[in-house]
Amino acid sequence: MSITSAAPAARHSKTAVIFVCILAALAGLMFGLDIGVIAGAQQFIQKDFGINDDTLSWIVSVMMLGAALGALVAGWLSSQLGRKRTMILGAVLFVGGSVLCGVAPTPEVLIVGRLVLGVAIGLASFTAPLYLAEVAPESIRGAMISMYQLMITIGILAAFLSDTALSYSGNWRLMLGIIAIPGALFLLGVAFLPESPRWLLMKGRQPEAEQVLHKLLGNRDAIAREISEIKEQLKTPQNGVQMFLQNANFRRSVWLGVLLQVMQQLTGMNVVMYYAPRIFQGMGYNTESQMWFTAIVGLVNVLATFIAIGLVDKLGRKPILYIGFVVMAIGLGVVGTMMHLGVHTHGQQFFTVGMLLVFIVGFAMSAGPLIWTLCSEIQPLKGRDFGIGCSTFTNWVANWLVGLSFLPLLNNIGQAETLWLYAAFNAVFIVLTFWLVPETKGVTLEQIERNLMAGHPLREIGSKPAPTSSGFRKQAAEDAAS
Ligand code: BGC
Repeated sequence: MSITSAAPAARHSKTAVIFVCILAALAGLMFGLDIGVIAGAQQFIQKDFGINDDTLSWIVSVMMLGAALGALVAGWLSSQLGRKRTMILGAVLFVGGSVLCGVAPTPEVLIVGRLVLGVAIGLASFTAPLYLAEVAPESIRGAMISMYQLMITIGILAAFLSDTALSYSGNWRLMLGIIAIPGALFLLGVAFLPESPRWLLMKGRQPEAEQVLHKLLGNRDAIAREISEIKEQLKTPQNGVQMFLQNANFRRSVWLGVLLQVMQQLTGMNVVMYYAPRIFQGMGYNTESQMWFTAIVGLVNVLATFIAIGLVDKLGRKPILYIGFVVMAIGLGVVGTMMHLGVHTHGQQFFTVGMLLVFIVGFAMSAGPLIWTLCSEIQPLKGRDFGIGCSTFTNWVANWLVGLSFLPLLNNIGQAETLWLYAAFNAVFIVLTFWLVPETKGVTLEQIERNLMAGHPLREIGSKPAPTSSGFRKQAAEDAAS
C-alpha cells in the first residue's frame, strides 16, 4: 500500500468507526431506556387505571416477553431482509410502540404497546451487535461489547431521570411517549447506515458489497483483502441446529450460555430496575424521595460498569464474578434483614439504601457486562449464531419471569423474604461459578473451541495448552483434521 493511499483510507475508516459507534450507542440506549422507564411510571399508571398488582406485573413484564419473541425471529429476519432493514423495522416498531403506550386508553392497549416495544428491542438487541461485529474493525470489537453495556446503563439512568422530572406532574403518558424521540433518532441513524458487506456477500451481491467497503475502507487493496477474508469465513457455514442435535460437546456450551443468562437474571438486578420506587416505598420513603433514590441507583449502575471495563482483562472473568456474587448476596441479604427488622429511623433508612446500592455495584461490576462477554466467547464458530441466539432468548425469558413474579412474591411471601430468596440465588451462583464457568481471559476463541470439542470440563475450556504437552498437541491436530 502506498503512503498516499494510506492517508485517505485511515480517514475513511475513522468516519466508519464513528458511524458504528453512534449506532451502538443508540441501540444500547434504546434497550436501557425501555428497561428503566417503567420503574417511575408504574405507580401513576396503577392509580390512573385503578388496576391491581397482577395487571401491573403484566404491564411491566410483557415487554420482556415481546423481546424474547423479537430475538427469536431476529436471526431469520436479519438473514432474509438484511441487517439494515431488520434494524429499520425494529426502529419503526420502537417509535410506534412508544406512541401507543403514551396514548393507551386502557390497560389492555398499554399491554399491547409494551409488547410491540419488546419486539422492537428484541430485534434491535440481536441485530445491532451482529451488524457491529460485521462492520467494526477487529481492533475495536471488544470495546464495542463494553460500550454497548455502558449505553444500556446510561439509557436506564436517562429514563430514571426523565421519570423523576416528570413525576411532579405524575404524567406517565409523557414518560412513556417521550421515548419515541430517541427511537426516531435511531431510525434516522440506521437509515443512513450501509448494509453489512458480509450479508451482501452471503447473498451473492458482490458489487454492492464492494461499494460499501469502498465507503468504509476507501482503498482497493484493503477492499480486496476484506472481500477474500469474508469469503473465507463464509466457507464455514453456520449449522447450529444440526450441530446441536449431533454434537454433545456443542450442547454443553449452549447449555452453559443458557445457564449464564439465567444466573444473570436471577441475581435480582431487574427487580430493582423495574420496582426500585416500590422497594423504597417499603423502606418508608415518600414519592419524591423514591424517585430521586431510583435515579441514584441508575447513576451508581453506570459508574460501577466502569469498574468492570477496567478490570475484565486484568483480573479475569472468574475473580470478578466471585466478587460480584458475594457483594450481591451480602447487599440483598442485609436489605432483606433490615426490612424484616423494620426500617424506622433516618439512620436505618440510609443504611438500607446504602446496602441496596452496594448490591447494584456488585451487579454492574460483574454479571452485568461479563455474562454477555462470556456468552459470546464460549460458542464454537460453526454454532456461534445459534448458541448466542439461545442464550439471548433465555436472557429475555428469564427477565420476563423475574418481572412477572416479583409483585406476586412480594404480596405472598413478603418483601424481606423475596429479597432473601434472591440473596440465596447469588450465594448458589458462587458455587456454580467455581464449578462450571471457564476463565477466558487472554485465550483465543479458537483455543476455547478446541478445548470444548476435546471434551475438557466446562470450567477448563479456557485453559491454555501446556507448551510441552505433546498429548494436547496430538489432540489439537486430531481436532483440526476432523
Ligand atoms: C441485563 C439487563 C439489565 C441491565 C442492567 C444487562 O446486562 O441483561 O437485564 O437490566 O444489565 O444494567
